[in-house]
Amino acid sequence: MDKLRRIGILTSGGDAPGMNAAIRSAVRNCLQHDVDPIGIRRGFQGLINADTIEMDARSVNGITDRGGTILYTARSEEFMQPQGLERALRTCKYMGIDGLICIGGDGTFRGAKALSDAGVNVIGIPGTIDNDIGCSHYTIGFDTAANTAMLAIDKLADTMQSHERVSVCEVMGRHAGHLAVYVGLAVGATSIIIPEFPFDFERDIAEQIREGRMRGKHHHLIIVAEGVGKCDEISKRITEETGLEARTTILGYIQRGGSPSTRDRVMASRMGHFAVEQLLAGNRNQIVCYRDSRIVAVPIDDAMNMTKQLDAYMYKVAYDISI
Ligand code: F6P
Repeated sequence: MDKLRRIGILTSGGDAPGMNAAIRSAVRNCLQHDVDPIGIRRGFQGLINADTIEMDARSVNGITDRGGTILYTARSEEFMQPQGLERALRTCKYMGIDGLICIGGDGTFRGAKALSDAGVNVIGIPGTIDNDIGCSHYTIGFDTAANTAMLAIDKLADTMQSHERVSVCEVMGRHAGHLAVYVGLAVGATSIIIPEFPFDFERDIAEQIREGRMRGKHHHLIIVAEGVGKCDEISKRITEETGLEARTTILGYIQRGGSPSTRDRVMASRMGHFAVEQLLAGNRNQIVCYRDSRIVAVPIDDAMNMTKQLDAYMYKVAYDISI
């Protein structure tokens, strides 16, 4: 492969705390190797519109501690259309982009794959609070989101406990329950309801609450993954069947914001650096993954066929100690 001259960097899909640290690391590692980093704003939509920004070492000053993404993000419908992809490819050619780093979740990787199939050298970095990327044991943003949710639920528990109410709290995660289980364990949930396991209201919620009461519990916390939803319905049914007052809280987008945790900053910095190293080594069309405590590259075709199982043992731990 000829010497790399220019690497494009974009963030796409839902933002995640730590994306900025990944951008900073990629930009600065490019500069270390005399490669010209270029930011593409608003994800693949920015590629379509040639919405680019020159980046130098100072342009990424002081962003490691900032949530969100300085490059903005988008979910581009237009990019899904053949004409959108065609325009994006034109931008890559016209801008002389020899390699493209795409930071985001599975939608982002589908976009990256379409570009790679059309000849662009891409490297993906997993950035999503959902931690639902099959090939990587960790995704940037998960730790911060889990901490944000945990701190919010701790506050919720204070007031619910005073009123001896039941809290029904929805956490994000799209179709997966990784965040819900992790947070549920951290906050000592009574029940954790996730899309991966079929849920039975009587067995998984009503019975858990009744048993808890018999053991002297005054507050019951039901964590519901976004992929299950129906929190208001669950709260209503709890009141009908246990006689206890229940309140729904949907944590929503606050889980995606805030200053990234140490883990996310470090992981993002390592992944951003590694992505550039891969392109420099001529390894294109890979996803940067965290596997067995190491950062590795997995070919994009393999990566997209990998699925992630929910940590059933963690779920069991949360269940066993919920009494
Ligand atoms: O993938 C991250 C995430 O926050 C999911 O947890 C959630 O389902 C989704 O994005 C929300 O997406 P949007 O920002 O498009 O509403």
